[in-house]
Amino acid sequence: MLSHSDPSNSPVHGIPDGTVLIIFGASGDLTRRKLMPALYHLSRDGLLPNRFKLIGMGRRIQTGDEFIHHMKNRVIQYCSHKMEDRYWDPLSERLLAIRTDYKELITYQKISDCIETIEKKWGIRSNHLFYLATSPSHFELIINNLAKIGLNVQDEKHWTRIIVEKPFGLDLKSSENLNSEIMKHYSEEQIYRIDHFLGKEAVQNILVFRMSNLLFQPLWNREYIEYMQITCAETVGVEGRVDFFEQTGVVRDMMQSHLLQVLALLTMEHPSSLDPEEIRDEKVILLKSVRKYKSTEIEECVIRGQYREGVVNSEFVPKYMDEKGVSLTSKVETYAAVKLFIDNYRWRGVPIYLRTGKRMPNRKTEIFIQLKKIKDKEIPAVLSHQSPILNTIRLEIQPRAGIDITIGWKPSGLLTDVEPTSLNIGGKAQLEEPKAYERLLVDAMRGDSTLFIRFDEIREMWKIIDPIVQYWKEKKEQTEELPDDLHIYAAGTQGPEVADSFISKDNYSWTEI
Ligand code: BG6
Repeated sequence: MLSHSDPSNSPVHGIPDGTVLIIFGASGDLTRRKLMPALYHLSRDGLLPNRFKLIGMGRRIQTGDEFIHHMKNRVIQYCSHKMEDRYWDPLSERLLAIRTDYKELITYQKISDCIETIEKKWGIRSNHLFYLATSPSHFELIINNLAKIGLNVQDEKHWTRIIVEKPFGLDLKSSENLNSEIMKHYSEEQIYRIDHFLGKEAVQNILVFRMSNLLFQPLWNREYIEYMQITCAETVGVEGRVDFFEQTGVVRDMMQSHLLQVLALLTMEHPSSLDPEEIRDEKVILLKSVRKYKSTEIEECVIRGQYREGVVNSEFVPKYMDEKGVSLTSKVETYAAVKLFIDNYRWRGVPIYLRTGKRMPNRKTEIFIQLKKIKDKEIPAVLSHQSPILNTIRLEIQPRAGIDITIGWKPSGLLTDVEPTSLNIGGKAQLEEPKAYERLLVDAMRGDSTLFIRFDEIREMWKIIDPIVQYWKEKKEQTEELPDDLHIYAAGTQGPEVADSFISKDNYSWTEI
């Protein structure tokens, strides 16, 4: 007979003992690149419960041994530090795998049987965390089939939770459908909608930096800020995820969630407490006030591009259309830049540029803020250094987490002059900080949803993105040719040439990637 969790096994960092994590999409890119290295680090650092099992569910899984061998190689490949067998071996003993057909109910029955066997061995009832890391097109099917077998059920002492990867839907309508399907079977407190950018230390630091420093608080509005840029540039291409990427492009993949979440944290009003609901309420209010474009405004405020062959990190890379599985007529964007406005009292009139691209020369995520120039007549002429690089704040998110502020400083010597000088704080990239997925897996297991997204945030984000993707969809349907606004750029460059005129017509310029 199964007993409730053994109280002598105290929770590790609030994670209860006896947890089974079931990952759908275990043979896919996300599991290989992010989830498995995160689990390795958690296991190495003693952050997994004593009784813990991972069941990997994937269509390409052959046998349990083959899965474990494959995962070990991926941990070797993707861990920032050298993998050590003494840490890998205990984790590998906790891994199981089941070859999966998402359509077949027998798949879900196998999970249930497997959990039963694990529980018998442990002698306790367990908690269940399901992770949907497949292509979004399988989400509804998996959720419904889990419910048919009763795998959505929890009781007072044992929870069942579900993490849903982004993108949550492919537009407003499909996201609403997906949400109502999930809500049929799970209560809100069981659902963890993930955007792993919220698990990054430097993203969490945005609110801390803004709100705990009196030096910056008064500046955070249209009186003092001229414009802002949020950039997320990647050197990688589509990494074997063509099927996924052909459905999303960078606007749905990167902008709809990651960049808009960063924007919300950067510009929202102060919540009255750090309660997850209060923070999310403020994000929703902010996202509601982001201007939604009419179709006639899209070409003026949005640009898109696709990479051709080029050199990244000293290696030749093929053009997007030559990536395995991409059609020769693909109109999918691998680069996009958008100019947004927030129509509220604090931000009215301040342009905010969002930019993201694959196959860029460097991996870089950062926020750049240009403060207004001091008016000429307000200070002696000699001090009014009008260099655009003065009075800037750069919040660096990755690869380095840091802050760089450029101020005017008198150079030593007999003359009184002003020189831009950098105040630089950070350099965290050198340290091995907890990675986003480590933090988020732990939070989901201990039931802290602060760094996960509520559906009303997702709805508001889609309302911003929908007009753009709808406009492109209509354009795509009108022509067989490449649309005239899909600009080609060489891999390893700063993006399409038109990106420069896009921002310079407003008298600003991009930061270098
Ligand atoms: C994912 C996107 O959400 O984020 C990928 O689907 C992208 O296309 C990845 O490469 C980037 O995340 P990170 O943490 O490596 O910057």
